[in-house]
Amino acid sequence: MDKEKPKIACLPNGPYYLLNNMTPQVIPNLQSSTGEPRSNVAGVALCRCGGSKNKPYCDGTHWHIDFKDDKN
Ligand code: FES
Repeated sequence: MDKEKPKIACLPNGPYYLLNNMTPQVIPNLQSSTGEPRSNVAGVALCRCGGSKNKPYCDGTHWHIDFKDDKN
């Protein structure tokens, strides 16, 4: 698996999720139960429903408008 290329996922009934930095970064103030620092890749949620008031980013409106991505 290529760790350097950005990746995009389509979340069910929600936004596209763009992972734009595949190098794990330590998350400040987040630790495991044993005190180990935790890391994660960086991403951003992009609006797919068209209802966000902060386009191109998802602001959670898809939940309030009951956005469905099925084609039935
Ligand atoms: S997908 Fe979340 S606000 Fe549009």
